[in-house]
Amino acid sequence: MRKVPLIDLSWQHRQVESLIQDGVAELFRTQQFILGGPVRQFEEAIAAYIGCRHAIACASGTDALLLSLMAAGIGPGDHVLTTPYSFFATASSIHRLGARPVFCDVDPRTFQLDTAKALELLAREQRIRAVLPVHLFGACMDLDPLQRACLERGIVLIEDAAQAIGSSWNGRPAGSFGAMASWSFFPTKNLGAYGDAGMITTGDEALAERLAMLRVHGSRVRYLHEEVGINSRLDSLQAVILSAKLTRLEEWNEMRRGNAALYRRLLEPEGYPIRLPAPEAPAVRHTFHQFVITCADREPLRAFLTGQGIATEVYYPTPLHLQPCFAYLGYRPGDLPVSELLATQALALPIYPGLSADDIAYVCHAIGRFYGAR
Ligand SMILES: Cc1ncc(COP(=O)(O)O)c(C=O)c1O
Repeated sequence: MRKVPLIDLSWQHRQVESLIQDGVAELFRTQQFILGGPVRQFEEAIAAYIGCRHAIACASGTDALLLSLMAAGIGPGDHVLTTPYSFFATASSIHRLGARPVFCDVDPRTFQLDTAKALELLAREQRIRAVLPVHLFGACMDLDPLQRACLERGIVLIEDAAQAIGSSWNGRPAGSFGAMASWSFFPTKNLGAYGDAGMITTGDEALAERLAMLRVHGSRVRYLHEEVGINSRLDSLQAVILSAKLTRLEEWNEMRRGNAALYRRLLEPEGYPIRLPAPEAPAVRHTFHQFVITCADREPLRAFLTGQGIATEVYYPTPLHLQPCFAYLGYRPGDLPVSELLATQALALPIYPGLSADDIAYVCHAIGRFYGAR
């Protein structure tokens, strides 16, 4: 039977293997293993790619969020508005600083923070000191209205851009709206390391300096600590790998977009009871970190596809406001109904670059067999 994995990184690796080998050989010669030249080069390359002034590398996307909130001075008693429909780290970083996540429901078509509801919450809740939206699944959110509201009220806007490298809204790249943006280079991300890695980007020099200090135990001068930071440095080895992969990122993102277009071409005319990801608004450049459909019979469809050798994944089965560790916040089932419904209906199909047109046709055919057979 044909097997279609959710992701296969071996094709990507072959594209950059020799570049990585050269970089690693050079690193073994220079021995700058942590925050060395390769890290600085990668920071410069990311700053240029995103189009911002400063990029500060760190050990993971989770740390990038934590460091951004620390640099913004978020702490006990502060409220931070965010989405319940995201990876856990979006909210855990807020909690870890003693601040309180305030969850706002999402838009049913785009899975992104519902801007109108977020603006309402901002107007009502005076204790909100930061807003942390997520560019989910590779689609850049329109953050113009939230950026304006935050600027008017002196609230810091931090973009969780972990899933959205290369995406844009109205020509503005993800990462260009907030005071800071945090990025993850987890291996399965569109730009993935061979281990954990993360980055914060900002246009603000003072924030950049503070972030660079916070990631090395709050120290600017060796063994002198202005405040208690964390240890979150990027390995040069990962920087070498990421710099090599960055040279191909645009091409790989285009392949993801091509795969999404093919899914759409094959599935849309069939009229199956599934909803495809929101059609790209002309303003959005979606980089399809994930291709997520929604349907009422997600579990039987998923089981059928598994039986056909097709791997799928559920992002995310439990919204953050209903996670056991956040019970103390007092949310109840039904409080954020859109996120709760999406959690039962969303299903990610394989979309990675290197996936063949035949594989996509096989997935679409299997979906057709599932609905035809009922
Ligand atoms: C939206 C989002 N935020 C934060 C993270 C955390 O990144 P990391 O896994 O690199 O710590 C991830 C990825 O895993 C993510 O998808």
